[in-house]
Amino acid sequence: MKLVIGADHGGFSLKKDVVVYARSLKHTVIDVGSHSSDPSDYPDFALAVAETITHRKAKRGILICGSGVGACIAANKFPGIRASVCHDTFSARQGVEDDDMNVLCLGARVIGPQLASEIIRAFLSARFSNAARHKRRLNKVLAIEKSFSK
Ligand code: RB5
Repeated sequence: MKLVIGADHGGFSLKKDVVVYARSLKHTVIDVGSHSSDPSDYPDFALAVAETITHRKAKRGILICGSGVGACIAANKFPGIRASVCHDTFSARQGVEDDDMNVLCLGARVIGPQLASEIIRAFLSARFSNAARHKRRLNKVLAIEKSFSK
């Protein structure tokens, strides 16, 4: 899968491990930074990840900041992005199967590289179920997004 990964300074160190891990699973990774631990702003990386997905250069994204929260809030402002913080494998898998989550957000000050790897594996191996009830709910989410984007 084509994957885009971004992190602010809080997530920079974990991002290095995540990029290596995703590539070891044979995914194609676009790394949109940050490329150092110098202070940076998570919305900039949410924008870069969202644009990469919107332009169909990647199918899914991973965003990392200190808690995962700021990056997630910013990512969900972009049409077509369905992002969530998941610090357990159940949510990472079900978020895709039921909710078609396309951006996984992680908090580098909350979890370590081993758990992050297991969560990422669950996220990347899951597929949207296409079940009618989940499509119906997603269509309602889309309708909300459309009605407030004028
Ligand atoms: C940066 O200090 C920190 O606020 C950021 O990485 C993130 O945790 C925000 O939610």
